[in-house]
Amino acid sequence: MVITSAPGKVILLGEHAVVFGQPAIAVAVDMRLRCHVHRHDFFLMNGAPLSHKTHPYVQSAIAKHWSGEPLAVETHSDIPSGSGMGSSAAVSTSLLAALMVLKGGRVSEEELAREAFDIESVVQGRASPTDTSTSCHGKGVFVDSRAGERLLWHIQRDVREWYIHDCEVPRMNLVIGYTGVHAATGPLVAKVKRYADRTVFARDIIQEIGGIVREGITCLKANDMEALGRLMTRDHKLLAILGVSHPSLDKLVRAVLPYSYGAKLTGAGGGGSMIALTDQPEKAAEAIRIKGGKPFKVSTGEGGVRLEDMR
Ligand code: MEV
Repeated sequence: MVITSAPGKVILLGEHAVVFGQPAIAVAVDMRLRCHVHRHDFFLMNGAPLSHKTHPYVQSAIAKHWSGEPLAVETHSDIPSGSGMGSSAAVSTSLLAALMVLKGGRVSEEELAREAFDIESVVQGRASPTDTSTSCHGKGVFVDSRAGERLLWHIQRDVREWYIHDCEVPRMNLVIGYTGVHAATGPLVAKVKRYADRTVFARDIIQEIGGIVREGITCLKANDMEALGRLMTRDHKLLAILGVSHPSLDKLVRAVLPYSYGAKLTGAGGGGSMIALTDQPEKAAEAIRIKGGKPFKVSTGEGGVRLEDMR
């Protein structure tokens, strides 16, 4: 039996635009998914027969990375699935780490990030390596189209390339508001792609989001939460113009703003979750609850994928 775990993540700034080569900042948060793997008579996922239809990430990881006897995989997660908090990336990275341990190999953060991104691309279609790299590395990650200081690794796909950097992030209080509306990432990414292919206006919005992310890096360095919050709220408005918000997200963002430096949707949108940057987490959480969302008070600084136990 091998037990591994990986953190959830939130994107502070830059989702969607990062798929088109713009920068993004993502942080791991203190919610984890644990993955238990042991040899078994047939392939099982959380007690049910493994199937591509219901467990595409797990099935794809096993198909590519395991040729041994059948395995039983079980996940125990603090991260709601389809919530925009990186549960699919956490499944892929923690399972791949467990498979590497079972094969007796060395677990390399960079190799895991590459392989997990491949799985995400196969299952989701168009994607960026933001979620999977954040799940592997933990803490904070800055994704850019060129190499800078604290470079971790470089990932290329067709003509797009991403340089993944370690990003120093101060300890921040974030409140996540889960709308309860499940939204698949792939179709939302495809929708933005169609919009960007058709109009200069959408391409300009994507570029403007990139500019906001660069300003966000300056705010993080200066530990200026007020300015960072303002950028987050602006980013939310631009994401709404791109068509990836949802009435349930806009409602929660509006509700938390009186108690927050800023707030925005996080991840793919279309439902899923929003985040508030706040020094009044109780009040922000209550505002989310009153509007029908499920609040999670989280903090940054969480470590990446790791081996928990081996028996
Ligand atoms: C999803 O968490 C983030 C997106 O930017 C997609 C991606 O980067 O692969 C919407």
